[in-house]
Amino acid sequence: MSLAGLLLGLSFSGLASAHFAAWHKGMYCLNGTIRGEDDPDTNAIVNPLFNLTKSDWWFHAYNGCNELPPAEGDFLELPANGNFTVELAVNRAFTTLSYGGVRVAAFGDGENYTNGLGGVDCITELNIHTQNESMAAGTAFAISYQSDMSAVTPENLVVFTTLYHTPWKRLATYQVPNLPACPENGCICAWGWVPNGCGEPNMYMQGYRCKVVGKTGSAALAPAAPATWCEGAPGSCTKGARQMIFWHQLDGNNIDVSGSDSHGDPKSPAYNSVLGFAEGAQTDIFMNDGTASATSVAPGRPTASGTPGVQNGAWSLWRCPWYAPWCLLFFLGGLVVSLVEDF
Ligand SMILES: *[C@@H]1O[C@H](CO)[C@@H](O)[C@H](O)[C@H]1NC(C)=O
Ligand SMILES: *[C@@H]1O[C@H](CO)[C@@H](O)[C@H](O)[C@H]1NC(C)=O
Ligand SMILES: *[C@@H]1O[C@H](CO)[C@@H](O)[C@H](O)[C@H]1NC(C)=O
Ligand SMILES: *[C@@H]1O[C@H](CO)[C@@H](O)[C@H](O)[C@H]1NC(C)=O
Ligand SMILES: *[C@@H]1O[C@H](CO)[C@@H](O)[C@H](O)[C@H]1NC(C)=O
Repeated sequence: MSLAGLLLGLSFSGLASAHFAAWHKGMYCLNGTIRGEDDPDTNAIVNPLFNLTKSDWWFHAYNGCNELPPAEGDFLELPANGNFTVELAVNRAFTTLSYGGVRVAAFGDGENYTNGLGGVDCITELNIHTQNESMAAGTAFAISYQSDMSAVTPENLVVFTTLYHTPWKRLATYQVPNLPACPENGCICAWGWVPNGCGEPNMYMQGYRCKVVGKTGSAALAPAAPATWCEGAPGSCTKGARQMIFWHQLDGNNIDVSGSDSHGDPKSPAYNSVLGFAEGAQTDIFMNDGTASATSVAPGRPTASGTPGVQNGAWSLWRCPWYAPWCLLFFLGGLVVSLVEDF
């Protein structure tokens, strides 16, 4: 084995004890926990949250991830009524965000498991906290219409999409409801997962800068209430906008369960039907129509001329056909403005 191979091998040993995160360039803690350093092997964000005070678990604060936003202009983009994809992996090394993506595979630990993965006992090859795909508890994304992490509260952080039977494979695509546009500096989003058994009864909470793109909705989100256990009893589910699941911490919990679920296992709250979360886009989270203004928001980074991403009404720059003279004028105008600004 070459020295490089040995070093690579060493740097990847110990990863087996890792857990999962939803990787995307819009995430907090993308580069690890040392400000100004980029660690392609970081797994700082994947560690689960258990028995911590709220000041430690909230957005993974205990290792400083809540204070390490993504680079300026990097957002998790949420196409209204569309979908978005993240990479569920145990380490950034096994995503397209490190090493030019050469270590990616079907699963988030760099393996393909071509002979299959899972059975009736808890999986031990990777820390995926399930017996098989059908038992995987489900994950979710929530959104807060606040640009400043410090203004996010459990009540304004609304679960807007779930993906049943995850984490499983690396690529995970989530559906987006008819979300309204974010403030000019974007929204704050969070990824959540509460595994069902197969290990410590912990939870995951990970932050992002996000923004809604495309043709956005005209109804604002309602304040979120805690979800309640309602397996087999839909009438007792919390209806409407719901909070993320905050469970098994020293404080700040919003759910407690006891007894057994329908499988005979200890009840474990999850982003699935046991708490009444429908699969996919959550469509029951809105206030009345007209409580937000519909707009068109361009995907991608803001243009060089500083044109904000949001344009009101039907006209929007990103639909500008390159051959149209008015668009060319606009582009040249933007160029002049940005040149002038540089002086
Ligand atoms: C949780 O933390 C408290 C305080 O640090 C400790 O006394 C208790 O044993 C912990 N519980 C578990 C299950 O780890
Ligand atoms: C993370 O590292 C990349 C590559 O070195 C850099 O471009 C980016 O700005 C860094 N992000 C943050 C938030 O520091
Ligand atoms: C996501 O959206 C794309 C583009 O609209 C579409 O082609 C694809 O089928 C969608 N995927 C899922 C899983 O919904
Ligand atoms: C996983 O499959 C991909 C695509 O076939 C391949 O490029 C990669 O080398 C495989 N990885 C492993 C660890 O087998
Ligand atoms: C998945 O695991 C559960 C729990 O052990 C088991 O009841 C079920 O039969 C398994 N499904 C498959 C397809 O292995």
